[in-house]
Amino acid sequence: MKIRVLILASILTLPLIGANSPRRPRITGIAHAAFYVTDMAKARAFYEGYLGFQSPFSIPRKTPGESLVWIKINDRQSVELFPASEVSPAADRLYHIAIETDDAEAMRVYLQSKGIAVPPKTAIGRIGNKNYFIKDPNGNTVEIVEYLPEGWTRREQGKFLPDTRIATRMSHVGIMVGQLDASLKFYGDILGFTEIWRGGGGKLLSWVNLKVPDGADYVEFMLYDKPPTREGLLTKHHICLEVADVAQAGALLKTRALPAGSKTPDAMKTGVNGKRQINTFDPDGTRVEIMEPGTFDGKPVPPSKAPPPPPLPPYQPLATPKAAS
Ligand SMILES: [Fe+2]
Repeated sequence: MKIRVLILASILTLPLIGANSPRRPRITGIAHAAFYVTDMAKARAFYEGYLGFQSPFSIPRKTPGESLVWIKINDRQSVELFPASEVSPAADRLYHIAIETDDAEAMRVYLQSKGIAVPPKTAIGRIGNKNYFIKDPNGNTVEIVEYLPEGWTRREQGKFLPDTRIATRMSHVGIMVGQLDASLKFYGDILGFTEIWRGGGGKLLSWVNLKVPDGADYVEFMLYDKPPTREGLLTKHHICLEVADVAQAGALLKTRALPAGSKTPDAMKTGVNGKRQINTFDPDGTRVEIMEPGTFDGKPVPPSKAPPPPPLPPYQPLATPKAAS
């Protein structure tokens, strides 16, 4: 009898335990990457004039005359350009990446339940979307964003999407990862991303790609075996614009003026991942990869079995300004 009561009691309490552990809301994509730029006019000439995007809005920063400028890729993705005067000249150019959820507050509660440091409440940012910052195990700043119907992102839906855009999608963002296991736990176990490919050009693993749970975008872990130089950070931290035909995209870019001081794009090549690509560089040296979605011959490239580099401490992260954009 006692046993039966005990069993009944455990059956009755089970759903309650389940109801009390917060569930992760959907993560639908990579919303943006934010970079510091030394000269906003030159940066805009690169992202707007050269890559062909448009800026739907900007907001003033604390320093008079300086702005945070949005470069729109599509209705849900953008690049944010922050004035570099807000960090030291030697600082890395990547400020943060952002992932989109359909419930930022539920995500905050969920992350807290997993032991991730989160702010005490979900704020609404200056452009009317819910957002806040968290840190990944490597010190990368990750913004959680939920587009609100009254926010500026939704307000400009269907606008600022000119035919001049070199690409209509940002397939991934590349971030430094010195501790693969910790990052797999964070992005995989906690955020629900799934590994879609891993590869490397040498004896050690170089890249691991993890796709968001409810969309096609992915983060690319950029593994490293020694502390990166600043030069290394500029090319490791990157965004990738997806195009159907890289040769055609390259030919189009050759017809456009590269802003003064920008490094000439690399020649088209086929990567270790079997995909044709071109690397372009903004005036600060930040790499903007342009790549096709499939392999050059349509055959899948098997994932590498190479071991990851031994874990390293996080590279020196940037100081995070208080307010999320
Ligand atoms: Fe990449």
